[in-house]
Amino acid sequence: MNKILLCVTGSIAAYKALELTRLLVKAGCDVKVVLSRSALEFVTPLSFEALCKQKSYQDLFEYSETPIEHIELARWADKILIAPATANTLAKLAYGIADDLLGNIILATKKPIYVAPAMNKQMWHNSIVKENVARLVARQFTLLAPDTGEQACGEIGEGRLMEPELIAKMVLQNISKIDKTVVITAGPTVEALDPVRYLSNYSSGKMGYALADAFYNLGWRVVLISGPTELSASYGIHTIYVKSAKEMYDAVHEYVDKAELFIGAAAVADYRPQSYATHKIKKMNDVDDELILKLSKNEDIVKSVANLQKNRPLCVVGFAAETDNAKVYALQKISAKNLDYLVLNQVDNKTGFPFYSDQNQVQIYDRKGRLVLELTLMSKLDVAYQIAHMLCNRLAKKEEQVELNYG
Ligand code: C5P
Repeated sequence: MNKILLCVTGSIAAYKALELTRLLVKAGCDVKVVLSRSALEFVTPLSFEALCKQKSYQDLFEYSETPIEHIELARWADKILIAPATANTLAKLAYGIADDLLGNIILATKKPIYVAPAMNKQMWHNSIVKENVARLVARQFTLLAPDTGEQACGEIGEGRLMEPELIAKMVLQNISKIDKTVVITAGPTVEALDPVRYLSNYSSGKMGYALADAFYNLGWRVVLISGPTELSASYGIHTIYVKSAKEMYDAVHEYVDKAELFIGAAAVADYRPQSYATHKIKKMNDVDDELILKLSKNEDIVKSVANLQKNRPLCVVGFAAETDNAKVYALQKISAKNLDYLVLNQVDNKTGFPFYSDQNQVQIYDRKGRLVLELTLMSKLDVAYQIAHMLCNRLAKKEEQVELNYG
């Protein structure tokens, strides 16, 4: 019988932990419940005890049959499930703080730990929370990522506790990290003219970094190949820093043959200076007011990946940022580059939106030019999760198809 230690912390979603207990018991699990001090503000131990027919546990120092309860509970459990997990709990666990029963149990166990966060969408998207989640996911924790939907605070967004049925299913089926790799390019490239000057663009890298976070939090192995940006990647994401398009190309081809998915979110410079001056180019006052630079075309990275004859990722996704005739160019790009999907940004030619913005509004087309996802204006992280969920679903179907064809 599966012995599950369910740890409930102080979120309004704590009431859903009762349903979760019922479902786990119904599935034949032996369930014991630990309630944090703030969980007691929302739900009562008696309700859980009635459902799982076991005493519940709250205080590290309360009288119990065994003097070292946290060790006993850690030994007893086959799996530990923290649902709902608050931002405070995630932070404490990420740094090994053990000032209550839950914190002590977690440090005392080597068993699989499932964590299902629930909080307001702003809190969930806070970079501190993201870093804490990434620290946990890099260890023995499996993230049961929150859903998007109506929240107790009246807002709509990501942060709702995953539905209890799904949590129970994930825990019982041992769904843990996904054995899949995505390679993502992000940011601009810089093409050096001389030791102090370069050609580049306004890309901030935010969209690519958000995609890296989203896939990482969904359990993927992520290789992020980034041009120069002001961002830092979350803990656990394998990040390779490059400058030029040539360096980005080389890094991509070092990793992409082991990836199921490639996403070209970088704004790669189309051209580089034909020659690099090893000394700073001097201003020439006595000649023309003109300086003519000769440029050579850079290799198209996403196209080279999409046309790999061997070990092509199952899915190759490109981005397009266009000011005019966006859809026409987008559709041309899909066939010219042999892409499976293209994410289209309409760039505002006055403000440059979405460059440098935290928000984005995109449309996604498939290789037949069909509009498969049209999103309203939202944060780049929300866009990233929507794209990630869509690609995960489609990839699963594609893999099924491949299995059928070979089977
Ligand atoms: O052709 P365009 O630059 O508009 O296409 C944009 C898409 O192509 C993006 O996905 C970008 O990352 C990718 N790209 C590339 N290598 C280049 C130029 C663009 O991978 N040299």
